[in-house]
Amino acid sequence: MSLMGILDRIADSATFDRAIEPARRAVLAALKPQAFKDLLHGTWLGHPVHPVLVQVPVGSWTSAGLLDAIPSMRPAATVLIGTGVAAAIPAAMSGAADWSEQGVGVQRLGALHAVGNTVALGLYVGSLVARARGRGGLGRVLSYAGLGVATGSAAVGGHMSYAQSSGASHAATAARALTSDWIDLGPLDDLPDGRPALRTGGGSGVDVPLAVVRRGTRVDVFIGTCSHLAGPMYEGRVEQVRGSDCLVCPWHQSAFDLADGQPRRGPAANPQDKLEVRMQAGRVMARVPGRDR
Ligand code: FES
Repeated sequence: MSLMGILDRIADSATFDRAIEPARRAVLAALKPQAFKDLLHGTWLGHPVHPVLVQVPVGSWTSAGLLDAIPSMRPAATVLIGTGVAAAIPAAMSGAADWSEQGVGVQRLGALHAVGNTVALGLYVGSLVARARGRGGLGRVLSYAGLGVATGSAAVGGHMSYAQSSGASHAATAARALTSDWIDLGPLDDLPDGRPALRTGGGSGVDVPLAVVRRGTRVDVFIGTCSHLAGPMYEGRVEQVRGSDCLVCPWHQSAFDLADGQPRRGPAANPQDKLEVRMQAGRVMARVPGRDR
């Protein structure tokens, strides 16, 4: 069986669910208030922040591994290992925030990823202690072991992103399937006022759900699947969040600005794709912007 097949098997296994769920609830309880959690998600950036933060420990520890091979550079390697240990803390916190509101398969692999990273961190802390006590040989053994474990754990994290779409925008995927033509969404008067309605747009052989929000004569049209985990945005609600009128997802309460689709509250970090709208003889027409320019 391939490595990917093994990881898929782990994602399908319920063996450790009884330990994972209490851990998930503990993370949710610890990461408060919501603004702090959104900081860790990257909601303020409009992009998940975890992949940005992991660059520092990964880069520091990999570079330390190279410098440790050159005796005169070993003091610099120790500095890099310490840098990686310090930077691993915020990286782990952002990863935990994202993990706490993912689907069950991602949570299972995420738990494995977290255990691997914790073991790697422990090995690097042990390496620092050994180096501080003058036991450089043991320190190097521990840090190379840490690098091996961290690399394996990074492969698990990569599978979460590339095979399980963790952190990917599910709205952007749906938007790519939409036709570039103007889509007729029907008469303005058929839309309810102040709450989203479901309409569909064609493209690539599938119907793409759209969330259409009418407020008076103004209409905002979004991809109907939430950028976070593809929740039904057309079943959400309109609400003011942090000073902006937002469309709120019914699944995890992510809020997207009606003006531009930017996330104003997580767990979503990616924006919600918005269509351009025009009125034609009392009918609402929408299309993905910028396709034919
Ligand atoms: S699916 Fe999670 S907030 Fe929408």
